Amino acid sequence: MRQMIWGMALAMVAMPGAALAQDAAAGEEVFRKCKSCHQVGEGARHRTGPILTGVMGRKAGSAEGFRYSYSMEAAGAAGLVWDQEKIADYIADPTGYLRDYLDDPGARARMTFRLRDDEDRRDVAAYLATFSDMAEDEAGMVPELAPVSVAATEICVRNANAEPHLFGVEAEGAERKVTMLAPGETLCTEAARAEKGVVSVWENAEAFEGCSRLVPVGQVEDMLKYVDFDRCFWSSNT
Ligand code: HEC
Repeated sequence: MRQMIWGMALAMVAMPGAALAQDAAAGEEVFRKCKSCHQVGEGARHRTGPILTGVMGRKAGSAEGFRYSYSMEAAGAAGLVWDQEKIADYIADPTGYLRDYLDDPGARARMTFRLRDDEDRRDVAAYLATFSDMAEDEAGMVPELAPVSVAATEICVRNANAEPHLFGVEAEGAERKVTMLAPGETLCTEAARAEKGVVSVWENAEAFEGCSRLVPVGQVEDMLKYVDFDRCFWSSNT
């Protein structure tokens, strides 16, 4: 069952990638324009802009040790995870992109550069994808989930699905926590006085209805796929 769900999800994300006319070699040429601010590959360091190695599938504004604009961090917190299409859109107009994404006319990107040519933008995004751990048809997928260690008194939920969603954990006598999780991220709450707790997921921060599950303390429940409110695949029901 689990195998089947992964297969379906992979087929779905693979399609838009294949439709992009992408040329990583041409993108290497285009990347010269980015080099005054960005480095990629072995030995890359933060310059005016962050390291772009591994940017595909990375939460926006999350490269360690780089100081992003407030708006970029807000976009990451709201669930923006980079893939080729999103990067191609972003570099056309970074501030406009963040304004749209955050629905905030006051948002500002720190990246002042714009690349207008459509093909150049796609090519450079394809080039950046060659420096990722994930292949394009897996970008946004969680390729493998490393085992997480959980205290015997914690209730945890992990986003084992390709898209960011809003998650919650709660139990009697425990602090209720709700936050956006990027693919692969885990949320826990300390529930020393309970045996069971409830983990929940909502499609996004605006959704009223989501899915919930009663789970025992001391283990991680994986949310494998969000389908609709009240219809989700969890690790304990597959
Ligand atoms: C003038 C400097 C400059 C140039 C040129 C530039 N960038 Fe940037 N870029 C930045 C800065 C600064 C940020 C951080 C933005 C923020 O914090 O709002 C950034 C952020 C990014 C991000 C988001 C990274 C993350 O970790 O979230 C991507 C992707 C990106 N740039 C791609 C490119 C590409 C591709 C090019 C070339 C076509 C390019 N940039 C050219 C300065 C630049």
